[in-house]
Amino acid sequence: MTKQDDEFITYNDTEYNLQGIESLAWKKLVNGSVKKKNGFRTMCVGTIDENNAAALRIVVNRKVDEVQKTIFFHTDNRSRKYDDLTKDNRISLLFYDARQRVQIVVKAYATIYSNNALVNDRWKATSPQARLGYMTNEPPNTKSDQPTLGYDEHFAITKPTDDESNPFEKNFSVVSCTVYELEFLYLDFHGNRKANFYYENNVLVGGNWAVP
Ligand SMILES: Cc1cc2nc3c(=O)[nH]c(=O)nc-3n(C[C@H](O)[C@H](O)[C@H](O)COP(=O)(O)O)c2cc1C
Repeated sequence: MTKQDDEFITYNDTEYNLQGIESLAWKKLVNGSVKKKNGFRTMCVGTIDENNAAALRIVVNRKVDEVQKTIFFHTDNRSRKYDDLTKDNRISLLFYDARQRVQIVVKAYATIYSNNALVNDRWKATSPQARLGYMTNEPPNTKSDQPTLGYDEHFAITKPTDDESNPFEKNFSVVSCTVYELEFLYLDFHGNRKANFYYENNVLVGGNWAVP
């Protein structure tokens, strides 16, 4: 990236070169994972489904490791995205924060963790309300003859205790996404800005400015 490193753009009254934009993008993703009201708190996850069609859904950005270039989310291992990823671990993540006017799109390789110390650690940190997502008796998206919560109705009133929710930990997985491409797009009244970055084995290997 050295050739273009003496070119700067102004973002929020600060000048950034290409390397600076790369760091800024990861700072924004980290912020999203730790600040509940941040626009990067959620992301749209794209997988390739059984018919080779793009399958999309929103998940919560749970953790970002800017050193390892890795983004984590949680999911039910009975879900369609889980099946998709076991067949093809390529994954796309789309972030947009209208307040910051920044879109970040990444392509990554997913690794699924189930039944290990990391997963148990994450499960223990999960709220009773969040655990309900993993407590459905049938897999997510199973057809139902009537509107259904999927789990025992009384949990709509009284949230589950540890003893009630822990048997469902077996449905809970952590997915880590190791990024190999990142696109940063900033929408600005004076002209939009775009930069693309490439990674190999968790390390930045290239980047370029691009036509927005
Ligand atoms: C704001 C929001 C946050 C969500 N967070 C998650 C999440 O962190 N993990 C998850 O598996 N599903 C989450 N969901 C539900 C998914 O969008 C999706 O409906 C569900 O996981 C089933 O997806 P699948 O059948 O395509 O795998 C969330 C939905 C919304 C609207």
